[in-house]
Amino acid sequence: MTSPLLSRRHFLKVSGTGLGALAVAACASTKGEIDPKASRRVIVVGGGWGGATAAKYVRLADPSIEVVLLEPNGRFVSCPFSNLVLSGQRAIGSLTFGYGGLREYGVKLRQETAAAIEPDARRVRVGDGYLGYDRLIVAPGVDFLLDQVEGLAGAQDTVLHAWKAGPQTVELGRQLRAMPDGGVFVLTIPPVAYRCPPGPYERICQVAWYLKAQKPKSKLIVLDANPNIVSKAALFREAWKAYPNIDYRGSNKVVKVDPATREVTTELGERVKYDAINLIPPQRAGAIAVQADLVAADKRWCEVDHVTYESVKHRTVHVVGDATTGLPVPKSGTMANAMGKICANAVASLMNGRPAPEVPPVNTCYSWVSDREAIAVVNAYKIDGGKVVQVEQKLSPAQSTLYARHAEGWAKSIWADILGAVAGVLLVVGVAATPAAAGPLLDKPGYAKAVTCSACHGTAGNSRSDAVPIVAGVDPAYFKKAIEDYASGKRLSAEMEPFAKQVKILGVDEIAAYFAAQPREPTPVHVDRGAAERGRAVAAQCANCHGAEGQGDPAKLVPRIAGQPAGYIRNQLMLFKAEKRSPGDEPLTKMKAILKPMLEGTLDDVAAYYASLR
Ligand SMILES: Cc1cc2nc3c(=O)[nH]c(=O)nc-3n(C[C@H](O)[C@H](O)[C@H](O)COP(=O)(O)OP(=O)(O)OC[C@H]3O[C@@H](n4cnc5c(N)ncnc54)[C@H](O)[C@@H]3O)c2cc1C
Ligand code: HEC
Ligand code: HEC
Repeated sequence: MTSPLLSRRHFLKVSGTGLGALAVAACASTKGEIDPKASRRVIVVGGGWGGATAAKYVRLADPSIEVVLLEPNGRFVSCPFSNLVLSGQRAIGSLTFGYGGLREYGVKLRQETAAAIEPDARRVRVGDGYLGYDRLIVAPGVDFLLDQVEGLAGAQDTVLHAWKAGPQTVELGRQLRAMPDGGVFVLTIPPVAYRCPPGPYERICQVAWYLKAQKPKSKLIVLDANPNIVSKAALFREAWKAYPNIDYRGSNKVVKVDPATREVTTELGERVKYDAINLIPPQRAGAIAVQADLVAADKRWCEVDHVTYESVKHRTVHVVGDATTGLPVPKSGTMANAMGKICANAVASLMNGRPAPEVPPVNTCYSWVSDREAIAVVNAYKIDGGKVVQVEQKLSPAQSTLYARHAEGWAKSIWADILGAVAGVLLVVGVAATPAAAGPLLDKPGYAKAVTCSACHGTAGNSRSDAVPIVAGVDPAYFKKAIEDYASGKRLSAEMEPFAKQVKILGVDEIAAYFAAQPREPTPVHVDRGAAERGRAVAAQCANCHGAEGQGDPAKLVPRIAGQPAGYIRNQLMLFKAEKRSPGDEPLTKMKAILKPMLEGTLDDVAAYYASLR
């Protein structure tokens, strides 16, 4: 992703601020229109979590709109899971994807930086010329306020943030490994608002986990500008009990760094020595948002309409992702993805002279607290009087390997949701892959309201991950029962309880009907053949209700289980067996009685069998 012309030192610097590239481009002279518009055009600035999603989903909503995506990086590197690179659990390559999948949707990719925006002329300056647009979506993420920490601007080669995944992540991991045992690692957290509220605390877990295992005499000092842990506080406190090497200090804002003496100074004048450091600087919207005067009076974040994501300053310019402010939502990848989709539908609606659908976003942030366990926070919202309002926030009950599996499932689904096809995740062939053939999805009843669900359930409800069920082609009555049971707490799920409440407010009938109408694609997740063979015999006991081929019986509210991912089926069987799913539900007594004596290995087999059915 780095140009061979740039040295590593220079690249670390440029990727740190985003300003370097902008400054170079802005000096160039304007040579005129580069690629005149053939039809109505949307330009998207920034191919990260918000922008790449928006580009794809404008094409899905209305394939007659031309979409041009401007992104200087040749490859997409995921910030989510990048803390695992520091602890050595993941290689950066496993978080790096090409943009080629977006071409399948007809998105025109330009590997370039938007140098300036001219909202009155409706054009974006690129290199020597400009590109015209009808509507613009700006998703530049964050940049850093280096001048708020004395000495930082001049020390960017060595004092790293690693807050944009890429070369800095790899280099910080190297610095951590190079630190002597017995050394002090200092991690500093900026005041809110910053990208990813739980991100620094997840990073603390990963660094502490690594030090505990590899450098047991070392210490991790955390200097947090905020008075307390900003997100999932109780769950992180619990996790940190396993890491006595953490020395957490709240209300310790760092104002100065001196790489020569390896020392930081806090606002209170206290000096702290380090052997290795990760300084996460205060943040604001990406430089282009400031240049284009999209930021509010604070000069940091862009205020937007909660339904259309239009900038309150320039109505033909929309802003999504971390760069926004005003909505009561975290700066997260899930949120940027949701905003990208909702904004895409708003843009396509407005360009067709229709009102934008009123759809609230969703949020889920998973955090890895060790090499194998994760926690989650989930937020559901509604639109009230044109504003986004939170309906509920829920935390996972405790850290677990189950939530780690859900995290993996989420990542796999959402990367594909953003980029189209990514390595290791098969593309759903059908409605999604050929937008032009499918026609404007915006015309499909329920499409706009169901659009946020694809972050986990896959495009059109065809989950590609092992942990998340396929909801395409589900009988609407069973779908509604599932939503009711999650909302009432009969079915326990940290993710689905809030979202079920959100779905009920939005209108469950319309959403159930939308998913029921989607063609179902069986799970592509590999199934153990031997296990599936063994499971066939066991499944004889299930056929009475679920049918000979696991096709279900809609009249009796028995769901289709053929082709669901094995991991999901197995987990549900465990919940039934332990009387944790829908306790006391009369029609389920017989199934639970059958499952009760079964060993876990048998559950694996029967899950594999049903997953293998086509
Ligand atoms: C360590 C870490 C862990 C995280 N973990 C999670 C997690 O587990 N779950 C979660 O939901 N979120 C997580 N996040 C947050 C998530 O990464 C961000 O919220 C998300 O990336 C925001 O998306 P965005 O589109 O606003 O910005 P980005 O994804 O940063 O995309 C912005 C893009 O715009 C491009 N750009 C900028 N300026 C220009 C310009 N002038 N012209 C053209 N292109 C431009 C940039 O190159 C970049 O590709 C984490 C973040 C970090 C740092
Ligand atoms: C953050 C990830 C995530 C998002 C976003 C999400 N879900 Fe789910 N969903 C899950 C998980 C995980 C499960 C399985 C939970 C369990 O163990 O019961 C699930 C289960 C379901 C089920 C039950 C399926 C069955 O076979 O019983 C339905 C229905 C459902 N989700 C609908 C939705 C809808 C509608 C949306 C969008 C508003 C949505 N989900 C958004 C993660 C998600
Ligand atoms: C007496 C009828 C009956 C029998 C026998 C039965 N089931 Fe079920 N099963 C149901 C019903 C009804 C549901 C719907 C549960 C609900 O409403 O939440 C269900 C749900 C499920 C689910 C959850 C699906 C989802 O999408 O969440 C799985 C998995 C499942 N059954 C597997 C099995 C297996 C495996 C067997 C045999 C070992 C079996 N069932 C036997 C009636 C039965």
